[in-house]
Amino acid sequence: MKALLIWAVLLNFYKLPKTGDCASTHDQVLSIQVTTHQQADIVRNISSQYETVLWSPTSPEYIGAHTEVHLFVPANKLGTVTDLLQTHLLTHQVLLDNTEDLIEMQTRNESSDPRSSASYYERYHSLEDIYYWINKTAQDYPDMVKVTLIGSSYEKRPLYVLKLSGRQERAEKRAIWIDCGIHAREWISPAFCLWFVQYSLNFYNLNNDITEMLNSMDIYVLPVMNPDGYKYTWTTNRMWRKNRSLSKESNCVGTDLNRNFDANWCTKGASNRPCDEIYCGQFPESEPEAEAVANFLRSHKDSVKLYLSIHSYGQMLLFPYSCSNEEVPNHAELFELVQEAAMKVRRYYRNNYKYGASAKTIYLAPGGSDDWAYNLGIHYSFTFELEDRGRYGFLLPPSLISKACNEALLALKSIALRVIQKTQPQP
Ligand code: ARG
Ligand code: ZN
Repeated sequence: MKALLIWAVLLNFYKLPKTGDCASTHDQVLSIQVTTHQQADIVRNISSQYETVLWSPTSPEYIGAHTEVHLFVPANKLGTVTDLLQTHLLTHQVLLDNTEDLIEMQTRNESSDPRSSASYYERYHSLEDIYYWINKTAQDYPDMVKVTLIGSSYEKRPLYVLKLSGRQERAEKRAIWIDCGIHAREWISPAFCLWFVQYSLNFYNLNNDITEMLNSMDIYVLPVMNPDGYKYTWTTNRMWRKNRSLSKESNCVGTDLNRNFDANWCTKGASNRPCDEIYCGQFPESEPEAEAVANFLRSHKDSVKLYLSIHSYGQMLLFPYSCSNEEVPNHAELFELVQEAAMKVRRYYRNNYKYGASAKTIYLAPGGSDDWAYNLGIHYSFTFELEDRGRYGFLLPPSLISKACNEALLALKSIALRVIQKTQPQP
């Protein structure tokens, strides 16, 4: 008992507020305000050293003269980094000072917290849990869910897709594709896929929108497109983004799966250096995860009318192109769809989402799945960046999962129902 008490005191002591950044014993996430080109150089430099991890933007090359930079800095490098910032008159705020606590909160599961009243869908789940959930869901709803294996990851983990269907038989069913978890650290993304599946199954024949969606379209859901990376964020490095493939010419691990598709592959906005976060891989679809998705879509391209890829963070509803500043032929139509969806989210959840063509709304990012799907002929193609805008970033607490998912669900339904109208088969 006494030992326990001492333990508790020590633990709390460890959590006492710190006097200055240098004295912090915690890893932090800093928000750094860049205002000049020279400062941009400095921050680009810092962000590729000192064991820091760039949260936003995704790659140093996206840092310009007026960028707000979110940077994860490990405790033992905080002094060095903040000194450097001061020397170059860079102002910063501490966005997060309790990353360890947040990570602990996110990985707490049923067994260590048995009386937790939060429902399954308001927590994050390990890869093993998600595989179990896929199986269980298919068993519980045999008439509405079919599971297919579309390939496997670099480390040979299965890539399962759930096919959701309404109970009405219709010839020539159209389809929607949704993938989650391309990027490992964006945990809200797989959480959304689980949320969406559960919602669809629970509210079929209760909610008009989802009933109409499932009666006119099959919905393919890939809950974790990058299982190796996701696993790695649970076991080893919470900040990991890429997959876990090894490269011949370098010791660095991983390819950015959202730079590995064949859409202006590896041009400006991607990197050919294996150590970079936006490494495009050896060739288009060199990664088994990207190849599996591309193969599936190629073989279902006539039925799939709507492609959706779920990411975080930033709160954005994006459409092609990412790989070029050109406008797609149906730009105005896609713009209307995301505008309406964003308007609904603003009205019902009082939350603002940015929207627009990707390259113009964020940055050039070639090799993305949405652009590739668009060029394949799926002309309703979107990438969602879910909550938040940087308050917690990738470490969104479990208590905020439900709001993040509900508003994304509203946006998804809004777009899907419009696409159903627009792609009505001619009688
Ligand atoms: N933030 C994501 C990324 O860097 C998405 C950027 C938009 N690109 C895209 N292809 N939709 O990969
Ligand atoms: Zn992402």
